[in-house]
Amino acid sequence: MSVRRIVVAVSGASGAPYAVRLLEFLSVHRDELELDVHLVFSKTGRLIWGDEVGTDPADYGFPVYKPGEMTAPFASGSARFDAMVIVPCSAGTVGRIATGVSTNLIGRAADVMLKERKKLLLVVREMPYSLVLLRAMTTVTEAGGLVLPASPSFYSAPADRTELLDTVTARVLDHLGFDNDLVTRWSGSLTSGGAIARNAPGAP
Ligand SMILES: Cc1cc2nc3c(=O)[nH]c(=O)nc-3n(C[C@H](O)[C@H](O)[C@H](O)COP(=O)(O)O)c2cc1C
Repeated sequence: MSVRRIVVAVSGASGAPYAVRLLEFLSVHRDELELDVHLVFSKTGRLIWGDEVGTDPADYGFPVYKPGEMTAPFASGSARFDAMVIVPCSAGTVGRIATGVSTNLIGRAADVMLKERKKLLLVVREMPYSLVLLRAMTTVTEAGGLVLPASPSFYSAPADRTELLDTVTARVLDHLGFDNDLVTRWSGSLTSGGAIARNAPGAP
């Protein structure tokens, strides 16, 4: 299997734990899948990671870049990265990608993915969506990107926060082409049987 070069970008939206679950998977499967993963933060993305996660992102053993490091390999199409996931992806980052304003490394790398016709996945987190954001998401989609909103699902009866996060992370991995069993997949029948209510604090 050929090496898969992936950029994981963390921008300034709530939802850094989604990035944690993705990085954990990529780290565990790094050798088996021959992965070459590079991690980049926006300024606010790093701030929110500190608040929501608190660990050192370098712990995964992947190279970590600052927002202004335009000499990073994936800032050029010639480095031939295969995919980029922006997780979580802020409205501001979507807007910059949609207008081609590549003033930071995340914007530039996303621009490279689009121009090289490579995979660009945006795990957008905002509530509600403004018309500006909706139009920006449309533009990025038309340009070849894929918006995977941070919208967790409940039909697999997630028992805890990690399982809830994984309802989103599994879809990201699906679109990267990585087999995973992070979630119970929809099989055509309702099986939760009120699990969420049963597991709620104070439930009889
Ligand atoms: C604690 C915190 C949480 C935020 N959450 C969101 C969010 O969920 N979605 C969003 O679009 N922006 C959010 N923002 C605002 C963005 O961080 C801000 O617009 C920033 O300029 C985005 O820049 P970046 O995309 O380069 O990180 C948040 C900011 C802070 C400080």
